[in-house]
Amino acid sequence: MKINGRPYRTIWRDGDAIQVIDQTRLPFAFAEVTLRTAADAGEAIKTMIVRGAPLIGATAAYGVALAMKADPSDSYLADASEMLRATRPTAVNLAWALTEMRQTLQLVAPENRAAAAFQKAAEICDADVASCAAIGDYGHGIIRRLWEGKGKPARLNILTHCNAGWLACVDWGTALAPIYKAHDAGIPVHVWVDETRPRNQGASLTAYELGAHGVPHTVIADNTGGHLMQRGQVDMAIVGSDRTTATGDVCNKVGTYLKALAAHAHDVPFYVALPSSTIDWSLADGRLIPIEERSADELTHMVGRGADGKLHKVQVVPDGSPGLNVAFDVTPARYVTGLITERGVCEANRTALLALYPEQARGAAE
Ligand code: MRU
Repeated sequence: MKINGRPYRTIWRDGDAIQVIDQTRLPFAFAEVTLRTAADAGEAIKTMIVRGAPLIGATAAYGVALAMKADPSDSYLADASEMLRATRPTAVNLAWALTEMRQTLQLVAPENRAAAAFQKAAEICDADVASCAAIGDYGHGIIRRLWEGKGKPARLNILTHCNAGWLACVDWGTALAPIYKAHDAGIPVHVWVDETRPRNQGASLTAYELGAHGVPHTVIADNTGGHLMQRGQVDMAIVGSDRTTATGDVCNKVGTYLKALAAHAHDVPFYVALPSSTIDWSLADGRLIPIEERSADELTHMVGRGADGKLHKVQVVPDGSPGLNVAFDVTPARYVTGLITERGVCEANRTALLALYPEQARGAAE
């Protein structure tokens, strides 16, 4: 995507270092951060300088490459991989990318590992861009059919939660790719952007992305979606995923489940866009997905720009009130209208997923 006319990915190699965009400073500052070591990559994932399932995976892959530059031994490959794997528990793209790196590098002699690791990490990034572009095409088809089926209204309202745009991936995004492609093709999409408390990925990142691309949007408080659906003001919902089971249960940013329930109650189509690197074929039940719990500080305090133009952190609960900051929830497959993948759109169930990914039939949990 372009920022001030310059095409950007969210992660790229610059000589022996890796550059990323500091997402903790958006939307108020567009700043790059340099990652020089595997520890830098781990810290960027933990502190959410980078976030979003596909981008976490890409950063971990480059983290392994940075590790191999420092020490290409078997033991350091194992240690660095474990350190990176432990940074965040829910998005399965992290473990997926580390397994991909490990499988490639264990076949390579240590003296060649750094070069092979940088090359493999670049391939993972390129594959993510291709997947998201394909998701965008399939999702655009769904949006177009819906818009035409409704008699081409002057505004098609799409609700999204969290940030599943290009900032969450390497480029394009998952849930937002279909929206960008539909907008670029002339469909009058308007996006309801859930603010996504407590970290406000919707208000800060999705609104920033959509605005930069010129897509009409409105930020809403997380609790507004049900009201809008009740009034017929939501035509469809599209969200991303951090981990989807072999049976189609979808784990995504906390609050997604409530939107899916409301959408179900009001017959609003509820789609989930995801690349296959987000599917955990080993799980048949979403309740088995590890759910990250983050510091309550993210809930009890908010950060925003003051009238002086500076960032301020303010407390929003009484002194001493504890908070619970659960970062993700699971939407059971029965509330999902369809999964939009890089291989096409399918129902959220094992049979439909395996029809798209037959090579997984042997290992997919039942
Ligand atoms: O905690 P985050 O910001 O990493 O959570 C991100 C999400 O929940 C996204 O919706 C998900 O990763 C899909 S990204 C294409």
